[in-house]
Amino acid sequence: MPLKSKKNASMLAVPQHVAIIMDGNGRWAKKRFLPRIAGHRAGVSAVRKVVEACATRNISVLTLFAFSSENWRRPKAEVGLLMDLFISALEKETRVLHKNNVQLHVIGDLSAFSDKLQKKITEAEDLTSKNTGLTLNIAANYGGRWDITQAVRKVAQEINRGVYTVEKVCEKAIEQHLAFHGIPDPDLFIRTGGEQRISNFMLWQLAYSEFYFTELNWPDFDDVAFTRAIDSFQNRERRFGQTSEQVQSA
Ligand code: FPP
Repeated sequence: MPLKSKKNASMLAVPQHVAIIMDGNGRWAKKRFLPRIAGHRAGVSAVRKVVEACATRNISVLTLFAFSSENWRRPKAEVGLLMDLFISALEKETRVLHKNNVQLHVIGDLSAFSDKLQKKITEAEDLTSKNTGLTLNIAANYGGRWDITQAVRKVAQEINRGVYTVEKVCEKAIEQHLAFHGIPDPDLFIRTGGEQRISNFMLWQLAYSEFYFTELNWPDFDDVAFTRAIDSFQNRERRFGQTSEQVQSA
């Protein structure tokens, strides 16, 4: 039997952390002659489904890219409607998440959001902070380059304060200041909508993630589609720089 067709324990395990770029809301709406915001609204329903799917499968962490630091470049009206949608989604969904033992975090530069949205985020995070089930991270006004830059700035400040010297700067020194600090790196990265790029998402953390791309637009991404992604993940051999033979014998 060729080595590659053997499955080891890590291949059969469910991913601990799944990270998703939810792309294709606009195209989903356009196909139906609907305004783009209808696609984003349908996207919220798809979020609900994928959260349930993760909880059912005992996946520990789900991270969703809801709004990138570059999305401010969209037409003002769409940005405004998206902000309203985030507020209404937090108002409607937080209690349901809490009831289902989900711990919610919103990760990104939140200072750019309205006071009302920031308050809703804090309330939702506080309410769910002690929950022990799925950790749901929503990346909002987030960018991988922003995250690395702000972490490096903090490292430089520590050097300035004499906490350590330049020679002591290591990956751990940077990692501890990243917005995703303390959260295991994604095992599986999914992007819907047919594009095959990572668009400034989790640049540091995706170093060894398995990538899965699907043509489905985000609102069409259902449990069947999620199962396909998990199946694909479970058929990969993750080597983390080692040889296939080393992985097989471990
Ligand atoms: C990308 O599709 C989607 C977004 C930029 C917004 C994502 C928002 C949601 C799924 C709804 C809210 C989510 C939460 C977590 C409350 P696109 O607009 O770029 O689609 P297109 O590429 O087809 O134009």
